[in-house]
Amino acid sequence: MGCKAVLVRERCYMHTHLKRQFPRWKSIKPLLGWSLPAFGREDKALNRCITLEEIRLLSKKRVPRAVFDYVDGGANEEISIGRTRRAYSRVEFRPLVLRDVNTVDLTTTILGEKSSLPIIFAPTGYTRMMHYTGEVAVASVATKHNMVYSLSTMGTFSVEELAESVPDVRRWFQLYMWSDRARSLEMIQRADKAGFSTLVLTVDTAVPGQHNRDVRNGLTIPPKISLRTFLNMSTKIKWWFNILTTPPLEFATLRQEGLSPSEAAARVFDASVTFDDITWLQSIWKKPIVVKGVTSVDDAVRLADLGVDAIVVSNHGGRQLDGGTVPLEILPKIVKAVNGRMQVYIDGGIMSGRDVLAAIGFGADAVLIGRAYLYGLMAGGAAGVEKVIAILTKEIESTLQLTGVTSVKEFNSDSVRLRKRD
Ligand SMILES: Cc1cc2nc3c(=O)[nH]c(=O)nc-3n(C[C@H](O)[C@H](O)[C@H](O)COP(=O)(O)O)c2cc1C
Repeated sequence: MGCKAVLVRERCYMHTHLKRQFPRWKSIKPLLGWSLPAFGREDKALNRCITLEEIRLLSKKRVPRAVFDYVDGGANEEISIGRTRRAYSRVEFRPLVLRDVNTVDLTTTILGEKSSLPIIFAPTGYTRMMHYTGEVAVASVATKHNMVYSLSTMGTFSVEELAESVPDVRRWFQLYMWSDRARSLEMIQRADKAGFSTLVLTVDTAVPGQHNRDVRNGLTIPPKISLRTFLNMSTKIKWWFNILTTPPLEFATLRQEGLSPSEAAARVFDASVTFDDITWLQSIWKKPIVVKGVTSVDDAVRLADLGVDAIVVSNHGGRQLDGGTVPLEILPKIVKAVNGRMQVYIDGGIMSGRDVLAAIGFGADAVLIGRAYLYGLMAGGAAGVEKVIAILTKEIESTLQLTGVTSVKEFNSDSVRLRKRD
């Protein structure tokens, strides 16, 4: 067949089968490697983040340096922070293949109730300093994902305000035992009335940790506008605008005490708390009690003997004793010693879904995250926290699939080991 004949045939075919049309946006859009500018409130920089570390770096750009350092930093030389994080990079997963991991189950049971992820939002004080929406934003994300939210004694929303703003959140109240036990009792009763289901007693704060970054930055609570912060203001306009146009920062649950934030901070640390106070607490609070800040096998066993419902193996994210026991390293020994008599959670340094599963593999029933969600909050309020949970969910899911395990509940020490060094 000659060339001309082929062309004629092609034209006939086109004519009968393929009618020409105007280009349609629907068909062009999927071919574009770039997108048209969005004029909505979409946060592109946040959307682009694919790891929690990237969210951390974004948050650094969005809040004043002193605020970022308050969250990111720890006690003294920050030896604990480094060791706590590095322990997770020593984890080696031991994958099994040829398992059907098409669908995996990420749920777990926390104090008898189902949670969609093995993650609890840790109590963090002064949260509205990170983003003006504070605890309420975090608790809203917790509600959406059916997760537990813990409100700190040092929260910037009171127990009543949080319960009113996010009535459906599964909420725990973190207690710092006041030297004046009558004051503690009042606070506990208020938490009970406001529907808090569990008390978390933090016990690693005999005295406040020394945060050198905060001292160097001249961080005050509430933040003051020094000349240096004033200069820094121009680059963090949005943060300052939000802080200056919303109610002043305060320790809301302690509002009625009439103390300044620095006075309140000084009073909540009581160096005389002992195991007897746990017994006292059990006599007045009839719901579950979690003790947070345990890093010794003996202490864990004593708490199990007392009938405490759960402990958090925690070094307070390296914000109290610097250079103390590393939570992940002691976890398996504690889990073995308490032998299922209470639930064991862990926190400190968890920055990925792999870290979450590693902790579960070494015997934790769930993990608490602190900085991970605060970075999200500083980067973009509730949307930032939401993004953190989305990343963690995806990473837990894929790590389960790649290790050949179908559910969080079945993930155990067969799948992990700790290398001597990274
Ligand atoms: C900014 C900040 C404030 C915190 N405030 C409290 C608090 O008020 N009460 C408490 O029990 N723990 C507090 N913690 C400790 C956390 O509950 C948790 O133990 C710790 O953040 C876990 O380590 P991670 O931040 O590396 O996840 C705070 C932690 C941070 C980072």
